[in-house]
Amino acid sequence: MKMKKALLMMLLLALAAGILFLYFPQTTGTQPGNGRQVILGFAQLGSESGWRIGNTRSVIQAAEKSGIQLMYKNAEQKQENQIKAIRSFIAYQVDVIAFAPIVEDGWENVLMEARDAGIPVICSDRSVNVPDESLVTCFVGSDFYAEGRRAAEYLIRKTQGQDGPVRIAEMSGTLDSTPMRYRALGFRETLGDDPRFRIVFSQSGDFLRSRGREVMENILSGTDGIDVLYSHNDAMTLGAIELLEERGLRPGKDIIIITVDGEQGAIDLLKQGKINCVVECTPMLGDMIMSLAKKLARGEEVPKVTYSQETVFSDFDPGLQSIPARGY
Ligand code: AHR
Repeated sequence: MKMKKALLMMLLLALAAGILFLYFPQTTGTQPGNGRQVILGFAQLGSESGWRIGNTRSVIQAAEKSGIQLMYKNAEQKQENQIKAIRSFIAYQVDVIAFAPIVEDGWENVLMEARDAGIPVICSDRSVNVPDESLVTCFVGSDFYAEGRRAAEYLIRKTQGQDGPVRIAEMSGTLDSTPMRYRALGFRETLGDDPRFRIVFSQSGDFLRSRGREVMENILSGTDGIDVLYSHNDAMTLGAIELLEERGLRPGKDIIIITVDGEQGAIDLLKQGKINCVVECTPMLGDMIMSLAKKLARGEEVPKVTYSQETVFSDFDPGLQSIPARGY
């Protein structure tokens, strides 16, 4: 009888353990890489552009391919939602957190919470501005300063031998975001003190197509005319071009158009001569994020910064028409 009771107890315990495992599969078990999946919490900033949608797809597909369990949250363009998402990952005790910070400031507290919980943090795509750099384990993404430089180098080549002034309107990304800051800086520092170049207008279009249209409207009404549009992303550029054409202007001819990203839509317009230069910024960061996450979960050292390989497509390129499909 006693034996039967003991057996029954054991059976009940086993059942309870099974139920618990089904509800909390991620928090039970051994160390990651030791028979259980690595769990990565990824807080995406939003869905503001084709680039961002491509970036999200790249992360989800890479997680599936590499056998990483992904907890994905989309912050819909709000920093407080990203902070909430990171806190939920900490509560869940994920192995690694990755996030694309919408702006650079305001992350110190939540990053300290992650550190106290012993969870390594990857900044993907954009970076943060915190006094203690060790709060972020590593960064993976583009070198935005180099992108700004490439945009300016193209402009210098395009206007070589031309008298000034070259009137430039800048359509910048989300204020205080890493790409906005460094695409602006790299561009200005490369143009240097050449007096031909004048940035006559600069306004944020928040990386959104709809805002690109609005800012273009402001440029047309707020200046005596421009020679160049330098736009920090393709989504805004597409909105601006739409408006220019409605106003009877010829983008790529009446106004030199320089854009950043390399979405399929922008490459198509480059081939049609409506955009002059596309500075590539690749959203395909998924594989690199997963590889870093696995190493971090195993407690291995990783490089502090990993930049993606990028190029420039422009009307100087003889092979322009054969640029392969972009996938975003
Ligand atoms: O942070 C990368 C930038 O964010 C891309 O250039 C832009 O398209 C996106 O919204």
